[in-house]
This record gives sequence, structure tokens and C-alpha cells, in this order.
Amino acid sequence: MNILLTGGAGYIGSHTAVELLKAGYDVIIADDLSNSSEEVISRIEELGGRRVSFYKLDVCCREGMDRLFSEQDIDACIHFAGKKAVGESVAKPLEYYRNNMDATMTLLETMEKHGVNIVVFSSSATVYGIPELVPVDEKATRWCTNPYGWTKYMSEQIMRDACVANNELSCMLLRYFNPIGAHESGRIGEDPRGIPNNLMPYISQVAIGRRERLSVYGNDYNTPDGTGVRDYIHVVDLAKGHVAALRYAETHPGCTAINLGTGKGYSVLDIVHAFEAANGIKIPYVITDRRPGDVETLYADPELAEKLLGWRAEKTIEDMCRDTWNWQRNNPNGYGN
Ligand code: WQD
Repeated sequence: MNILLTGGAGYIGSHTAVELLKAGYDVIIADDLSNSSEEVISRIEELGGRRVSFYKLDVCCREGMDRLFSEQDIDACIHFAGKKAVGESVAKPLEYYRNNMDATMTLLETMEKHGVNIVVFSSSATVYGIPELVPVDEKATRWCTNPYGWTKYMSEQIMRDACVANNELSCMLLRYFNPIGAHESGRIGEDPRGIPNNLMPYISQVAIGRRERLSVYGNDYNTPDGTGVRDYIHVVDLAKGHVAALRYAETHPGCTAINLGTGKGYSVLDIVHAFEAANGIKIPYVITDRRPGDVETLYADPELAEKLLGWRAEKTIEDMCRDTWNWQRNNPNGYGN
């Protein structure tokens, strides 16, 4: 089967491409490289043991996407392409709504035109906003606190309505918790442009000497050590979850939302200490004010993924910290953008 990965040169997309190749799928990647590097393509082929077709393409470009679907016999799509910085989305909402909604709409309309009826969507736990209860299951109320989250929420709704209108369409809405880590080879990993928004890439840049110290955003939350608690999941476990979701979608039309998390919550300082212990590196930090929009505690109820997909995260926090450092120390400047 030929699988199109929009945004497939990105962090989650590249790790998913490797797992798809290893599972015997053929991979086509469409990526505008606005937040990734073409170097990733050769590394995916190195790790997956096979070539991939790459199109440098803005997924919002209808003509480009139509040409791709005409040239390639696409069986299913995994939709990663989109802007994903929460803070940036608050500052530039129109850019986020235009880009992320246009990408989703262009993909779905091109799929419809070419008779492709399977899409796995890169959604996010951010659609849960500030959860009433933790762990969070898929029935939890969804309400977003930023434009980025609303683009995920609205894309989910579009796919839900599309499935009602087309009973052959299968949409898997994968709600990621906090992906971290890297492929054990150290050849692919997270390479954010500019100052990292997220915790683990910031920690690894402190470790490699690119940043002086970590700012811990608040230690006055109602959590065991006062710092924010999240459900960190190894990016390779997450990638394998996409392969499992694709397999399920092949025989299950309709719209299915699934949490991809471990079901365990770790605080910011838990992660700092785990990184220090796994790698023997001191991470200097300073406690600063809370970051606006942050929730106190968020972790998944992962049961539905195991029940429907037969998938459960397996890697430990130590694996995540060790693999993160292995990537960073082998690629001090990421892919060298
Ligand atoms: C984790 C914890 C911070 C950075 C976001 C998006 C989510 C997904 C993952 C895209 C929090 C603390 C962080 C730092 C810190 N992205 N922190 N210092 O905010 O849970 O989720 O990224 O899909 O949709 O919402 O992840 O890594 O930014 O923060 O103290 O320099 O680390 O306060 O408690 P978050 P994060």
C-alpha cells in the first residue's frame, strides 16, 4: 500500500515514515520544508531500508496536491502538515486558521476527488483544554484554550461530518499527548527552529550547551513538586501507534478518536532529573512564572488504543531521555539548517 504523509519530513512524520517502511508500506512524503529539512528524507530511507517519493509541496496548494494524487496511486493518507506552536498561534491566529484549515480542506477534497478513503489525522490532547478529570479519556469534554488547539478541534469536526456523508470514509483522529525522544539510531529526532517552545528539546539544547539554563514555568501548581505534569510518550511508540491506527482504518470506516499516551504523568522536574540520571549531565534551571495557557496536569487514559488497535506505549522515561540525548549529541545543530 502507498501511504501519503503530509508533513512527513517533520518530527512525528519522519519517525512514522520509518515505521511504515519497516512494516512493508510504501511512503510518499509531501512537505514544504518550512519547519523541517530535506536531509531527513535520506535518513528516513537509511533507517527504513527503502526509497521514499518526496514532493516539496505546500499541502494548501490544490494544483500541487492534485498532481501528486494523479502521479501516485495513493491508498491512504496520514496528515501531519500544520503549524503547531501554541504561543505563536495566539499571536498569529489568522495565519494558523488559514494554514491549518486550508491544509486539511485541500487534503480531504483532493482525497475525495481521487477516491481515497482513509486518513489518519495528527490531532492533539490540546483539544481537551483544561481537563475536568485526569486521566483523560476520549469522551472527555473538548474545549480549546488557543487557536492552534481550535484548528485541531475544527479539523476533527470536518472529518466527523465527512464520514457521515461518505460511509466508505475512514478517519482516525489521533490525540497525541507529549511526544519526546528520538529513534535509537540518533539519525532522526526533534529539530525545532529557533528557541524551543517545548520542554525536552529545550533541555537537550541546555545539555549540548546551546542554551544556558532551563526556565521552569512555575512551581506553585497543585502537583507533587509544584511543577506541571504531562503524559510524555516516546516518539517511536507514537509512530507505531500510527501504523496500528492505519491497519484498523483499513477495515473500519467511520470516524474514530483515540488518545496516544502512556497513562502516566511526570512533572517538569521529574523529566529534568530523569534526563540527568539517564545521561550523567547536570541541567541548570531557574524557576520562573507560570506560562500563560498552561494546564496544571494532563495525562491520558490509554485504554481505548489498546482495545481497538492492540497498541500500548512500551518505552520508559529513561528510554525517552537517553534517546533524546543520543540524537542531540550526534546532531548538535539538528539537521544543520
Ligand atoms: C510541557 C511542560 C510547561 C518548556 C504542547 C502543545 C501540545 C503539543 C506538545 C503540539 C509544561 C513546561 C516547557 C520550558 C517548562 N504540541 N515547560 N519550560 O505545553 O504540554 O504541550 O506541546 O502538538 O499540543 O500544547 O508541552 O513541552 O511546551 O510543556 O517548564 O522551557 O513543561 O510549563 O508544564 P505542552 P511543553
